[in-house]
Amino acid sequence: MSENESIEISEAQIAVHWQEEQYFQPPASFIAQANMTDPAIYEHLSLDNFPEGFKAYADLLTWYQYWHTTLDTSDAPCWKWFVGGKINASYNCVDRHLTKYKNKAAILYVPEPEDEPHVALTYQELYVRVNELAALLRDFAGLKAGDRVTLHMPMVPELPITMLACARLGVIHSEVYGGFSGGACGERIADSGSRVLITIDGYYRSANLLDHKEKSDLAIKVAKENGQAVDKVLVWRRYPGKYVSKSPMVKNRDYFVDDLLGDYAGKRVEPVPMPAEDPLFLMYTSGTTGKPKGCQHSTGGYLAYVAGTSKYIQDIHPEDVYWCMADIGWITGHSYIVYGPLTLAATSVMYEGVPTCPDAGRPWRIAERLNVNIFHTAPTTIRMLRKAGPNEPKKYNYQFKHMTTVGEPIEPEVWRWYYHVVGKGKAVIVDTWWQTENGGFLCSTMPALHPMKPGSAGPAVPGIHPVIYDEDGNEVEAGAGKAGNICIKNPWPGTFQTIWEDRERYVAQYYEKYCKDQNSKDWRDWPYFTSDAAMQAEDGYYRILGRVDDVINVAGHRLGTKEIESACLLVSEVAESAVVPLVDEIKGRVPDVYVSLQPDIKPSKKIENAVTKSIETTIGKIARPKNVYIVPDMPKTRSGKIMRRVLAAISNGRDIGDVTTLANGEIVEEIQRMVQGQL
Ligand code: WTA
Repeated sequence: MSENESIEISEAQIAVHWQEEQYFQPPASFIAQANMTDPAIYEHLSLDNFPEGFKAYADLLTWYQYWHTTLDTSDAPCWKWFVGGKINASYNCVDRHLTKYKNKAAILYVPEPEDEPHVALTYQELYVRVNELAALLRDFAGLKAGDRVTLHMPMVPELPITMLACARLGVIHSEVYGGFSGGACGERIADSGSRVLITIDGYYRSANLLDHKEKSDLAIKVAKENGQAVDKVLVWRRYPGKYVSKSPMVKNRDYFVDDLLGDYAGKRVEPVPMPAEDPLFLMYTSGTTGKPKGCQHSTGGYLAYVAGTSKYIQDIHPEDVYWCMADIGWITGHSYIVYGPLTLAATSVMYEGVPTCPDAGRPWRIAERLNVNIFHTAPTTIRMLRKAGPNEPKKYNYQFKHMTTVGEPIEPEVWRWYYHVVGKGKAVIVDTWWQTENGGFLCSTMPALHPMKPGSAGPAVPGIHPVIYDEDGNEVEAGAGKAGNICIKNPWPGTFQTIWEDRERYVAQYYEKYCKDQNSKDWRDWPYFTSDAAMQAEDGYYRILGRVDDVINVAGHRLGTKEIESACLLVSEVAESAVVPLVDEIKGRVPDVYVSLQPDIKPSKKIENAVTKSIETTIGKIARPKNVYIVPDMPKTRSGKIMRRVLAAISNGRDIGDVTTLANGEIVEEIQRMVQGQL
C-alpha cells in the first residue's frame, strides 16, 4: 500500500462503482431550436486547427482592437490568449446590448421571502447602475485598472452590478462566497492585496435575515495581521436607507453605498479598453496546501470561452429565461450566471436563498412564475429537492428545454429523477465537468448532438482534448475499465493564467506532474493536471470519480482538508487533527474530523464543540464536520505520517485494508469501536 497520503484519502477511492447506463436521446423539439447542431464544430476546434479554431468564440464578443497572436506560449505554462486584443467585459455584458435589448430583463432577482416583490433589471437599468457605481469606485474609492478589490457578497443584484462596475474600470474583483467567515475573507483580502472591501449589511437565508456586515470587522483584522490594510469598506444595504446589521459602522472607514450613490446619479463612465490578457477577476479555491489559491482569470480569453460555452452547451438564446441556481460566490456563478449569459444578452435569474425555503416547491413556483426554460443546478440540490419533495415538480406548470448538473458526480438514480420528474421527460440534460481553474466546461455532451448517459459527463467539449494517465504517465485507453488521472492536452482560452502572485505553485500543482520538458515553450509538453480521477468508456464518455488530492467536495464546493485541519489546531487542547471525506446522502461528501489531544487533557463534549466552532469561524458553516472524534492517538506509519486512508475507511464503514505497516496498529481497533460502535 502506498504511503502517499493524498492518494490514500482521495474521494476517487471511495467513489461508487456504477454500472454502464442506457442512453437517453435529446428531444426533437430541442434539436430543432438548438444553437449548435453541426458536428463540424469538433473539427473546427480540433488540435489540427489549434489554436486558431477558438477565434470562433472570440468573435462572439465585441473588441476595441483585434489581437495579433491567438495563443502566446512564450511564458509556458502561463498561457496568453488573444494577445494584442483590447476588450472590456462590462461593455460586452451591458452596453452592446442596448441598441436591441435595452428594455429586456438582464437580471430577474427573486428575494427569498416569498412576499417580497421580484426585481427586474433591464439592460438599460443595469447600464445606469453599473455606470453610477463605476463612477463611485473610481472617484470615491480611488480604484483604477489593475487594482484588486474584495467583494464579500451574497446573492443580491448588487453583486453582479459591482462585478460589472469593477470590470468597466479594469479593476480586478475577487468575490468571496458570502457564506465564508470573516476570517476566510480576511485571508483572501490579504492575499489579493485589496484595500477596499465591498459588502452588505444582511441577507436572507432559510427565512432568517442574517447579519453579514458583522463579518467585516474580523475580515479587516485578519487582513491586517497578514499585512494588508483596508482603508474603505463599502456597505450595500439589503433595504436601502435601512441598516439591518447590529455591527457599528466605523467612522472614516465604513460607508453606505446607497448614501454615496446620490452624488453619482446620472454619471457615465467610459469602459476602459483592457488588454485581452489582463486579469478580469480572482477566484479563490482550495488546493493541496492550507492556503487558498487565487485563480487568476483573464479578460479576453475567459470572456470568449464563457460566451462560447454558454451559447453552445447551455444553448442560451436572448429569448430564453435562464436560471442557474448556483451562488455567484463560486466560479459557476461567475461564468454561468453573470459573464456567460450576459455576453449573450440573456435574461439571467438570481435567487437569494435556499431552494427549500419555505418548502421544496419553491424552485418550481419560481420556474412557473418566470417561465424559466433553462435550469442549472448541482447534484446536492437535486438530491435535497428529491428527498424533500419528490412529487413537487408535477404540481407546477413550467417546462424546461434544457437542464444542467454541475459540481460533483451525479448518481444515475438521481439523474433519472432530474430527467423524468424535474424535466418531465422533455428536457435535455448536460452533466458539465470542470473546475474553478478552468473558467468554463471541460466535458459535457453537446446537447443537440449527443445522447445523454446518466452518471457520465460525456465527451470533451469542442476544443478540449483530455487524456487519462496512470501514475507513471502511460495513457489509459478508452474502454480499459480502469481509472486514472484525467489531464487536458492543450490550453484553452478560459483557463486561468496563474495563481495570484504564486507562479511556482501554479506550475507545481497543475503542470509539473506530467510535464515532458520543463524548459519547453511548446504547449504539447505541458498537459494540465486536473487532480480528478476519471475513466473513459468505450463510447468516449468520461465518468468523473472525484478528487485525487486532499480536497473534499462538499455539496459541490471544494474544501481543503488542510484548511480544516489547521482550524482544528486552533483549539488549544488539540494536538493533532485529520480530516477525511464521509459519504453523505445529500451533500455527496462531508468532512469527518479526528483529533487527538495534548497530554493530560481529558476528552469532552466541550472540546468537540470547540473544534466545530473553530472550523465554522475560520472557514464557514459549509465546512461544518459531521462528527468530531477525539481519539487517543492517530493511526500512523512508521515514518510518523497520519494514515488518513484508514480513518476514511473507518468513517465510511469500509474495509480498512492492510494495516500491518502501521506503527500503532492496535489503535485502529480502538477507533473502529468508537466510530462504528462495533468491531
Ligand atoms: C468536481 C466547480 C463530477 C470535480 C465547477 C472537480 C465534478 C471539482 C463535476 C471542481 C461533474 C465538478 N461531475 N465531478 N459534472 N463538476 N466536479 O472548482 O472533482 O468548485 O475537480 O468547480 O468538482 O470544483 P470547483
